[in-house]
Amino acid sequence: MTGKGDRLAGKVAIVTGAGSGIGRATAIRFAHEGAVVVVADIVADAATRVAEKIEADGGTALPCVVDVGEEAQNAEMVALAVKHFGRIDVLHNNAALGDMALAMRDMDFLAFDSDVWQRSMAVNVLGPVYASKYTLPHMIAQGSGSIIMTSSVSALRGDVANFSYGVSKAALNWYAQTIAVTFGKQGIRCNAIMPGVTRTPAQMRYSTEESLAQLQELHLTPYLGEPEDIAAMALFLASDEARFVTGQCIAVDGGLMASLPQVPMFRKILAGEG
Ligand SMILES: NC(=O)c1ccc[n+]([C@@H]2O[C@H](COP(=O)([O-])OP(=O)(O)OC[C@H]3O[C@@H](n4cnc5c(N)ncnc54)[C@H](O)[C@@H]3O)[C@@H](O)[C@H]2O)c1
Repeated sequence: MTGKGDRLAGKVAIVTGAGSGIGRATAIRFAHEGAVVVVADIVADAATRVAEKIEADGGTALPCVVDVGEEAQNAEMVALAVKHFGRIDVLHNNAALGDMALAMRDMDFLAFDSDVWQRSMAVNVLGPVYASKYTLPHMIAQGSGSIIMTSSVSALRGDVANFSYGVSKAALNWYAQTIAVTFGKQGIRCNAIMPGVTRTPAQMRYSTEESLAQLQELHLTPYLGEPEDIAAMALFLASDEARFVTGQCIAVDGGLMASLPQVPMFRKILAGEG
């Protein structure tokens, strides 16, 4: 458990997908550091539960039901934040499509499903673009703001599945850099976090204990990520400590992408097992 501090004192933050996993951990961490948090999620109960937890811990939070894949709902989310709190200092675009049935239709390139692609792009890419479009005028008027995208290491390499997810995160990295470039001189910073395998409810739905053990072998740390590990980077990027950090796509991945692909093979050989 991380203690309370004042690294975001006086700031107003919107976190999307804040009802679960990485978004939940980030909303709670932001609030512990003094931010007022709009807890935005497509699942109303989940948003309410997280906002209630923040309030019970002594913070200030407002639940907001939003489907980030719908432009008008992004506009309403931003308007709600401004109406209640008068400004937006941090926008964490974290929500992504979590539909298991759709993911299962994204496993065979020869059966490529453009509906899955379009829905992935609508939620994972257009969502952050819309939320940024409506938030940026407020940040520009203030002369400051931090936009954070939750991307993925899936953006960085080819894959044998997830043909819609990976490209959506690659596009998100491009928008993170492009927003940073376009609005940097107006005091806006924008960065993307690329998590490695992180033990969230979504990840657990797709995993077995055996697959998690195999995935852990590929990370350089002796453990997989926890939502709080990603929240810690989001907190840094949201805070003024990161005033000189913008336009970056930062892996928070336990070193997953740092080693050569053949390292697991050499580990076995060195251990006399190969
Ligand atoms: N967990 C991992 O290993 C991992 C790795 C790389 C990237 N990520 C990224 O991290 C982010 C968070 O994932 P997570 O693992 O915490 O998932 P999660 O399912 O635990 O949480 C995601 C939340 O987003 C909400 N959501 C889904 N669609 C939405 C929509 N259209 N509008 C608003 N809210 C919506 C869900 O209701 C849920 O509360 C995602 O962008 C995901 O792609 C996760």
